[in-house]
Amino acid sequence: MCPILDVSQNGTVKHLETGPPLFEIGDSDLSRLLDRPRPLNIERNRSFDERSFGEMSMSLSPPRHLIYRNSDNMSRVFDQVLEGVYSPGRRSASNTPRSSNCFEVHPMVAEAWEALRRSMVYFRGKPVGTIAALDHSGEELNYDQVFVRDFIPSALAFLMNGEPEIVKNFILKTLRLQSREKMVDEFKLGKGVLPASFKVLHDPVRNFETIIADFGESAIGRVAPVDSGFWWIILLRAYTKSTGDTSLAEMPECQRGMRLILNLCLSEGFDTFPTLLCADGCCMIDRRMGVYGYPIEIQALFFMALRCALLLLDDEGTEFADRIAKRLHALSYHMRSYFWLDIKQLNDIYRYKTEEYSHTAVNKFNVMPDSLPDWVFDFMPSRGGYFIGNVSPARMDFRWFCLGNCVAILSSLATPEQASAIMDLIESRWEELVGEMPLKICYPAMESHEWRIVTGCDPKNTSWSYHNGGSWPVLLWLLTAACIKTGRPQIARRAIELAESRLLKDHWPEYYDGKLGRYMGKQARKFQTWSVAGYLVAKMMLEDPSHLGMISFEDDKQMKSHMKRSASWMF
Ligand code: GLC
Repeated sequence: MCPILDVSQNGTVKHLETGPPLFEIGDSDLSRLLDRPRPLNIERNRSFDERSFGEMSMSLSPPRHLIYRNSDNMSRVFDQVLEGVYSPGRRSASNTPRSSNCFEVHPMVAEAWEALRRSMVYFRGKPVGTIAALDHSGEELNYDQVFVRDFIPSALAFLMNGEPEIVKNFILKTLRLQSREKMVDEFKLGKGVLPASFKVLHDPVRNFETIIADFGESAIGRVAPVDSGFWWIILLRAYTKSTGDTSLAEMPECQRGMRLILNLCLSEGFDTFPTLLCADGCCMIDRRMGVYGYPIEIQALFFMALRCALLLLDDEGTEFADRIAKRLHALSYHMRSYFWLDIKQLNDIYRYKTEEYSHTAVNKFNVMPDSLPDWVFDFMPSRGGYFIGNVSPARMDFRWFCLGNCVAILSSLATPEQASAIMDLIESRWEELVGEMPLKICYPAMESHEWRIVTGCDPKNTSWSYHNGGSWPVLLWLLTAACIKTGRPQIARRAIELAESRLLKDHWPEYYDGKLGRYMGKQARKFQTWSVAGYLVAKMMLEDPSHLGMISFEDDKQMKSHMKRSASWMF
C-alpha cells in the first residue's frame, strides 16, 4: 500500500524583494543593509536564548562575523551584518517560493518546488512529511516511506519558504511514534529511539489511515538509526528559531522526547571516551561500511543536538543540563584533539612510537604508523585539514566524510581555524571531493580486498558507487551552509552550478557513481526527494544567508577558554 500523496501548489517563482545579494555588497551598501527592519525579538527569558555551555548565555543572533572572501582570497569582515537581516517567523502570503534578492532565479527552482510538493505525504488530511523517492520504475523497497533524515532538507526548505505547518506536524507525529513499544525479536529497544522512517497506510474498506514505523526492526541489517533522534532535536530548534514559536518546544511532550533521546546517550557505562559508540550503518550510511565505533557523522550530530537541547530544554541549572554541558565540553575537546588531521598531525602520526604506557603517552590510542594508508599522504594538502572518519583503539579511519565535517562546521564543533581549514581542503581537493557532481559522501572508495572485508562483499557498495565513494547531491545544502558560515560562498556557487548542469535533466537521482561522479548511480532512484530539497535549501541559503541561523551555531567563547585551560593542564 502506498502513502497518500497530494499533488498541490504551483511552483512559480516570484521576486519579492530586490537588492544586491549579501556577498556582492560593497562598503557603501553596508549601512543600507543594516537599515533593514530589525528582527522580531523572539528571545525568551529562559530556554530559548543561546547560552554558552558554562554560563548558558549565548546570543540569539545568527553569525555575527561573516567573512567575505573574493577570488584572490582577501577577506573582509562584515561585522553584525546578519544580525540586521535575520527575521524569524516570516510567512509568505502564498505558498509560492520566493527569492529575497536580485539573484536570477534558475528555472530549475520552480521544477524543484513542484517535485518537492509532489512528494508530500498526508496523514488524515494533514501534511506530515515527504516520501524518500517518487520513482516507481523499480522495486520500491522502503523508498516509499518518510525517512527522518531525508525529511530534514525538505523541512528546511519549507521553513525557509514560510511554511512551517508540515514541519510541526512531522515533529509531533514522529514524537508520537517514539512512545511506541519497539521490539526486535524478543528484545526491547530503548524508549528514546526515533524511527528511521514511517509510512502511512490507507485502509480503503474502513477508509482509515494508520502509520507504521521502522525503528531498525525491518531495515537492512536491523540497525536502529542513531541519527534520527539527533536530527529531530536539530529540527525542533530550526523550527523554533525560524518561526519564533517557542510553544512547540515547550510542550511537555517535546521536552520529554528530547530527554529520552539524550538519556540514551548520556547514561554512564564503560566508556572511556565522550564520543558515542555505534554499530555500523546507524546513520546516513545505513549499510555495513566500516563506520562502526565512533563515526564522525554521529559525533558531529550528537554535538549539535546537545547544543540545541541546551537551548530548548527548560532544565536550566538542573543536573541534566549540567550533564549536557559537561559532555559538550569533553566531546569538543576529544574531537578537536584526536579526530583532527592536518599535515602536521599526519606527520606526527607517521613518526608515532607504539606500546607507550601511562599518562605521558603521545600515541594515546596505540595507532600503528603502518596502518596509515598510502593515499592519505597525497590527499593531504599543505594547507587544510579535516576530521577523520573514526578513532578507536589502534584504529583510525582516515577517510573523509562530508556530512560529519559540514555538521562540525555548522555546530562549531570545529574551531574557526579548523572550519576554514576544512574549506581549504575542499578547495584544494576539488576534483576528488566534488568532481563533476557534488558531493562525495566519503573519500576514497574501498577497493578489492578491503571492499570484501569491510563491506562484506556488498554489491551495492562497490568502489566509487553509492556509500562507497559515490556522489550525493543532497550534500549540497550542507556544503552551502558551511560555505556561508566560513565566508566562502563562491565555493557553494561553483558546486551549485555543477548540480544545475545535470540534476534536473537526470531527474534528481539519489546518487552518482565514478571517481568524478560522472555517471548516474547504478541503482540510484530518480526523483529522490532530498536531492530536490537539498538543491532548494542551497539556493535559498545562498540568496538569503540569514537562513543559516536556523541550522548553525556560533563558536562558543566560554568553551574556548575552558579548552585552553584544560590543554595547559594536560600538556
Ligand atoms: C538510503 C540511504 C539513507 C536514506 C535512504 C532513503 O538507504 O543510505 O541514508 O535515508 O536511502 O533515502
